[in-house]
Amino acid sequence: MAKKLWGGRFTKATDKTVEEFTESISYDCRLIEHDIRGSIAHATMLGACEIIDLEESHQIVKGLTSILEDYQAGQIEFDTSAEDIHMNVEQLLFERIGEPAKKLHTARSRNDQVATDVKLYLREAIDDIHDLLVELQHVALDQADANAKAILPGYTHLQHAQPVLLGHHLMAWFWMLDRDRDRFLDCRKRLNILPLGAGALAGTTFPIDRKFVAKELGFDSVSENSLDSVADRDWASEFISACAILMIHLSRFSEEFIIWNSTEFGFVQLDDSVTTGSSIMPQKKNPDVAELVRGKSSRVIGDLMSILSLQKSLPLAYNRDLQEDKERLFDAVDTVQMSLKVFGLMLSSAVFNTRRMYEAAGQAFSTATDLADALVRRGVPFRTAHEQVGALVGYCVEMSKELGDLTLDEIRNFAPDAPEDVDKMLTVEASVAARKATGGTALSEVKRQIRKASRILGKL
Ligand code: ARG
Repeated sequence: MAKKLWGGRFTKATDKTVEEFTESISYDCRLIEHDIRGSIAHATMLGACEIIDLEESHQIVKGLTSILEDYQAGQIEFDTSAEDIHMNVEQLLFERIGEPAKKLHTARSRNDQVATDVKLYLREAIDDIHDLLVELQHVALDQADANAKAILPGYTHLQHAQPVLLGHHLMAWFWMLDRDRDRFLDCRKRLNILPLGAGALAGTTFPIDRKFVAKELGFDSVSENSLDSVADRDWASEFISACAILMIHLSRFSEEFIIWNSTEFGFVQLDDSVTTGSSIMPQKKNPDVAELVRGKSSRVIGDLMSILSLQKSLPLAYNRDLQEDKERLFDAVDTVQMSLKVFGLMLSSAVFNTRRMYEAAGQAFSTATDLADALVRRGVPFRTAHEQVGALVGYCVEMSKELGDLTLDEIRNFAPDAPEDVDKMLTVEASVAARKATGGTALSEVKRQIRKASRILGKL
């Protein structure tokens, strides 16, 4: 077993159980590329600032590059006794280039190093999630465009409320995803600040050039306070929070797909390629993808609770507790990436049963508000109109009739101010078309949304 890189003051070896308990290499090995990129920038800076010899800095960079290449070729094995990815890389470097490797950690601590690595990793993850979100937005937009005119019941309390266009419903998903995308970009802004140079907590005695390192690694600026740089993971909380909000959106869309896919609703048919069967019931075709996205949202909510409670009451500056941030972050990233991909497959291949939707849209008095609005236009106060139409609906329930089945006389028995042509206002088409105010479900408004959304995506 190799001697610990921090072993100078120790006279006894670390207990095996303690070693197993404290190691993080089994999962933070995932940061190897970011760790090496950070170390290359650091070593280059050390050489440029004449803190170490230029020649030694070159050797370090060459050694690190060769480790990266071997890793990419699948030829690197990690050593648990070397604790974490940072020590593993340094140990591997020493095995390759000898003495100069011992200078890499000049003017640096694992505390500012790990914050830098995780930020590099997350920045990449954010960019990937952003791209996946854009792809899913394209799918939602295409489906909204293709099904813009179909009418379905709009619901509140899962009860028929007012008819809406399917394009409108799907565009609601689009805008939710757009805010998710924006949240990730916002999080990226606050995250993209270099912690390296903070040292263990108090800064460094060496004349380092932090701006140089920031530029090398693509950070927008350098952090202002060394304690803050190594102590805080608010950017990790913010990232997982954006992930959790996104997953809650996806779980809601999934829930709608599950309901719409039921025999009772029959609003959507999911493609064979995104559904699964039952081991006992031969007839089954289950929406497991939607159910799993819905289910997996709970993991990410758990990750958020975990990253928040991890930091609660931690005194400044670095504490080893913070090592526990990684698995939560990795889990959130993996879950979000997979969920976005499968949801895109499900939505793009979904076939909407627009006839079934249309039939359902006309049921359960969904144009009652339109009748009340018609009375208001004749001068009846809204509250009075509401009362009259409510009584009329009660009459319909008793007589097993829909609003469209009523004669003008029947309507006027309850609502004396009903206009002559009231029947034209009670169709689902008229109901939808009348909602022309900005953001409403009229086709012109849905088309405006679709144009605006296309412009947004076109600029990305
Ligand atoms: N592996 C640690 C982490 O993930 C970084 C090392 C800092 N350790 C320390 N004893 N100061 O947070």
